[in-house]
Amino acid sequence: MSTSLSVKSICLGVTGGVAAYKAAHLASRLTQKGIEVHVALTKAGSNFIGSPTFLALTGNPVTESVFEGVRAPYGGHIELASRCDLLAIVPATADFLASAAHGKADCIASATYLAFQGPVYIAPAMNSAMWSHPATQRNVQTLKQDGTHLLEPDNGWLSCRQTGTGRLKDIDDILEILIQAANS
Ligand SMILES: Cc1cc2nc3c(=O)[nH]c(=O)nc-3n(C[C@H](O)[C@H](O)[C@H](O)COP(=O)(O)O)c2cc1C
Repeated sequence: MSTSLSVKSICLGVTGGVAAYKAAHLASRLTQKGIEVHVALTKAGSNFIGSPTFLALTGNPVTESVFEGVRAPYGGHIELASRCDLLAIVPATADFLASAAHGKADCIASATYLAFQGPVYIAPAMNSAMWSHPATQRNVQTLKQDGTHLLEPDNGWLSCRQTGTGRLKDIDDILEILIQAANS
């Protein structure tokens, strides 16, 4: 589908939290807006939602490892990074934040993050104790200093049956932010 948006292609990194199911809605809505969506799904993420869902919603194959989508001389992460105009990690686990803040390329999402040179939007979601832990907060600060757009989690009901900060930012708000970024 053709589009007049300046961002035509988004890499959507989906990491291993319960909120991963919400990424399917986001992938669908972005696709309906005429944006090509290429999903990078971590191994942990695939425990929460399967690649066939994203394949069906986006019409594009899902990359789950740097060893997939290899087209010499590229690994899957370089292929994704070079193909997309914007990178969004939704949801981002504490583990992803730690990897990305420390320059580790230990999964498809963190490897793509390192290889990507455009605008990056990261929407963390986790238990409130994990979110408020000094280590996580340090990683968040580092990622902000590195120029990423941190979409702060909401305060509300968490899947661990507690209320607190760590709930994924409302998916409609994330969509609006990404569409705005795509238009700019
Ligand atoms: C039921 C369940 C729910 C989880 N939810 C979250 C979560 O919301 N956020 C988070 O940071 N980690 C969560 N985890 C832990 C991550 O899955 C774990 O740290 C994993 O190694 C993350 O891998 P990834 O960052 O490569 O996707 C959860 C684990 C389980 C078993």
